[in-house]
Amino acid sequence: MTDQLQKKTEGWSGRFSSPVSDKVQKYTASISFDKRLAKSDIQGSRAHAMMLRSIGVLSEKELQKIIEGLDTISTEIQEGVFFWNVQLEDVHLNVEARLTQIVGEPGKKLHTGRSRNDQVATDLRLWLRDEIDCINQLLTDLRIAILNQAEKNSSTIMAGLTHLQTAQPITFGHHLMAYHEMFLRDQERLIDVRKRVNCLPLGSAALAGTSFDIDREYVRKQLGFESICENSIDAVSDRDFIIEFLSFSSIFMTHISRLSEEIIMWNSDTNSYVKLPDELCTGSSIMPQKKNPDVPELARGKTGRIIGNLISLLILMKAQPLAYNKDNQEDKEPLFDTVDTIKETIDIFSILIDSLIVNHSNMRKSVDNSFCTATDLADYLVAKNIAFREAHEAVSKIVSYAEKNNLLLKNIQLNKYKEFVPQIENDVYEILDPEGSIKARNHIGGTNPERVIEAIRRARSMLNK
Ligand code: ARG
Repeated sequence: MTDQLQKKTEGWSGRFSSPVSDKVQKYTASISFDKRLAKSDIQGSRAHAMMLRSIGVLSEKELQKIIEGLDTISTEIQEGVFFWNVQLEDVHLNVEARLTQIVGEPGKKLHTGRSRNDQVATDLRLWLRDEIDCINQLLTDLRIAILNQAEKNSSTIMAGLTHLQTAQPITFGHHLMAYHEMFLRDQERLIDVRKRVNCLPLGSAALAGTSFDIDREYVRKQLGFESICENSIDAVSDRDFIIEFLSFSSIFMTHISRLSEEIIMWNSDTNSYVKLPDELCTGSSIMPQKKNPDVPELARGKTGRIIGNLISLLILMKAQPLAYNKDNQEDKEPLFDTVDTIKETIDIFSILIDSLIVNHSNMRKSVDNSFCTATDLADYLVAKNIAFREAHEAVSKIVSYAEKNNLLLKNIQLNKYKEFVPQIENDVYEILDPEGSIKARNHIGGTNPERVIEAIRRARSMLNK
């Protein structure tokens, strides 16, 4: 860094009689975290410079110098030798100052017709668009992991719960496919968010647009944006595209957190429905027998932080008058943190789901030692021409009798059944069987194994996998 740069660091200090205090500089600087935007910042500057050339603000020679300078900066950043100067506040001023240092005068022309306000909005959108594409791919991998595990367990019987109490037999495959549906909707939400992220703010300048005869369509094409932000005041100030992304993230993490809670319960000593492979567990420093499901527990915990990030952004925006305010600098850390957490979480859950070790017999026991075919018995009575409400009442009495006498429904003798409802015949024992119960739910969205396989097939054909 030259002396001149050291002294006149900020890029806006002309009308200041005394330099900004060190404390203020430190307080207002964002370089420690917004340097993550450098690649997008350079991408945006390149497009802006080319546009300036196309409208005659830069000569061909000046453009070439700027492009070469930006390339050099890219290399320096990649190689980790770029000097990030906190006195230069943020990534935009750092890159611009270094450009001028490398190429001289042309570097000073790059900021013509633009402001850091439209620059940062553009950088964020470019950066987030790339991250969304990466997250989208990871979500596809997670869906495939669920489909594979669901397919292996399309006939694995377990107790389905309501109110955390045994309700009806279901298959584990069907249960997993419920999460597939959630993640599919999450992915659709993400793709929808992308449309609104993919809009060009550059050209809005500080807030009112610019007096230069800029060509925004040219920049839009260069940067691959789908549309151009229509209103310069809105373009530099709103961060709803981040809020939408954080909403997607919060909903997704809420789904992950529910799945985590279930995995933790399935993995508990009392259930032992699933085991997690050793490499996905951690031990206890005091209890040698322990293998803790830290990954789902942490995912459940991280969900709180991600929802917190959404709330941070909502609160950040809610009292801001138009147009840009420095408050917006606070949008970055929650966004970066969310992107990092979401990517890591999706990745590790694909592995976790794929490697669940399912204990079929323990799952089956949860059904066998319960009254979970009581609804089937009521449906059976309806088939014998008894109104459902009466059938329900009769079955309640039968269940209460069984409970008192420590019997399961299948152990009650036919003559006893006939005392409750004379129309009950020997065929009742077939419908008390969990396999029969599952097969009977034979419609789209039902737990019949063939229907589950069909649902998996439909999902795979959407994915082409
Ligand atoms: N570092 C700033 C941010 O993240 C860039 C925009 C600054 N604009 C300004 N007028 N101070 O929002």
